[in-house]
Amino acid sequence: MKKIISPSLLSADFGNLQAACEMINASEAEWLHIDVMDGSFVPNISFGFPVMEAAKKYCTKPLDVHLMIVHPEKYISRFAKAGAGILTFHYETVDNPLEVIELIKAEGVKVGITINPDVAVSVLEPYVDKVDLVLLMTVFAGYGGQKFIEESYERIKELKEIIQRKNAHCIIEVDGGINVQNASKLFENGVTALVAGNAVFNTPDPIETIHNMLNS
Ligand code: DX5
Ligand code: ZN
Repeated sequence: MKKIISPSLLSADFGNLQAACEMINASEAEWLHIDVMDGSFVPNISFGFPVMEAAKKYCTKPLDVHLMIVHPEKYISRFAKAGAGILTFHYETVDNPLEVIELIKAEGVKVGITINPDVAVSVLEPYVDKVDLVLLMTVFAGYGGQKFIEESYERIKELKEIIQRKNAHCIIEVDGGINVQNASKLFENGVTALVAGNAVFNTPDPIETIHNMLNS
């Protein structure tokens, strides 16, 4: 089973995004995770198109874009044009998830759907066979550096059962509080992609940390 690390740019040094991108390029990271926060769906504001475009300019890996914004449907086309490789929206932020999935697919971009830890995993059942990935939040969306919620393992199991029952092919990504210590357990539990912000960027050797996450 493939293992993917998607370091989150949110924890990078914003004074030197080019260096952060070059580190990603030189590392075994498969994607670069881009956290877009609007101060409305989540109580924090991160960055938008200009920063993402800068990342696209320097990063050779696909941009794994996590939209934490209300009305994501309004901006799908702009995020696609800004260079998204994967666009993931929150189930909680839209009235009609199927419509948003189709909008993203129509842009030729891979599509993901995500939920916060307080949303029942069962709400995802109608969508698992229509998306490329399901992102399970393992902290509440909004900030980097939070503690991994241990109950997430139960939710991963439940999601895996739904995916198998529906004979779907989407992969599972998790986001929040992930580090070298819990990475292997998550992979063993059927997760394919791990997002990691703090654990990658706030270590002395991020390239080695990414390697260790894949090989712990
Ligand atoms: C939280 C973001 C995460 C965050 C992860 O809302 O979606 O992607 O950057 O950061 P860490 O790995 O530090 O928990
Ligand atoms: Zn994220």
